[in-house]
Amino acid sequence: MNVVITGASRGIGYELLQRYLKKGYKVYAIARNVQNLKNIPNVEAISLDLADLDEVLRVSKYLSDKKIDVVICNAAISLPHSPSFTPFEDFKKTIDINFLSIHALLSEIVPNMKSGKIVLISSLASLVGAPTSMPYSASKRALNSYAESLRNLLAPNIKVINILPGFIKTDMTAKNDFYMPFLMDLKSGVDRIEYAIEKNKKEYAFPKRFYYFIKLFNLLPLSLKDKLLQKVAK
Ligand SMILES: NC(=O)c1ccc[n+]([C@@H]2O[C@H](COP(=O)([O-])OP(=O)(O)OC[C@H]3O[C@@H](n4cnc5c(N)ncnc54)[C@H](OP(=O)(O)O)[C@@H]3O)[C@@H](O)[C@H]2O)c1
Repeated sequence: MNVVITGASRGIGYELLQRYLKKGYKVYAIARNVQNLKNIPNVEAISLDLADLDEVLRVSKYLSDKKIDVVICNAAISLPHSPSFTPFEDFKKTIDINFLSIHALLSEIVPNMKSGKIVLISSLASLVGAPTSMPYSASKRALNSYAESLRNLLAPNIKVINILPGFIKTDMTAKNDFYMPFLMDLKSGVDRIEYAIEKNKKEYAFPKRFYYFIKLFNLLPLSLKDKLLQKVAK
């Protein structure tokens, strides 16, 4: 069995890589810095900057005849939270890496898949348009819409699994200087992700308490919701 994992060099992606190796998969592991992935048996390390969409298309073509069973689109960036209006280049980079590169990567792989799974790693941040992380929230919300379209386009043979994690301890959250509710350790976070993949969950958000809190927040009248969001931005 063959799996492609983006963002496999660190954090959630690296933990997933270890677990897929244990299951006996060959792993095509994508990241910019793949030094730590070279010389691992059953891992083919592919150095790729997902911001370079032409290169992503080239890698997609390379992977298209590799009989891929599972693609885990995990890599993403999150710029430091900022109350400033996001410069265009930062916004574009986030959308390119977190969203457009996913379709570029899948473009040549999916037409050659007869069955299998596409896993998208979204975020609970997709459910709220946080003013201090505009491009991240926007990229992940776009991903939710993409997941819904893709799931119904590829059903029933290819399962599309969209996962919305809350805060997990990785390099991505280490730079956050604000309180992160229900922060999870890496292993517990990846346990939930693995569960969602094994059970073919169409959409899986966790931790549940945080998810339901956000659902309730989204039921507030818009004027009250906006007042609270503006407080966060100050
Ligand atoms: N951690 C959380 O609390 C949390 C919560 C919700 C959702 N998520 C989502 O979970 C996924 C994994 O997050 P994480 O916390 O594991 O992040 P992380 O620790 O920052 O790791 C990010 C991974 O993506 C790769 N990457 C970053 N930019 C890249 C680029 N331009 N081209 C290719 N690879 C790139 C990195 O490798 P290189 O630097 O070597 O390229 C690294 O392997 C992301 O989609 C994130 O949005 C995370």
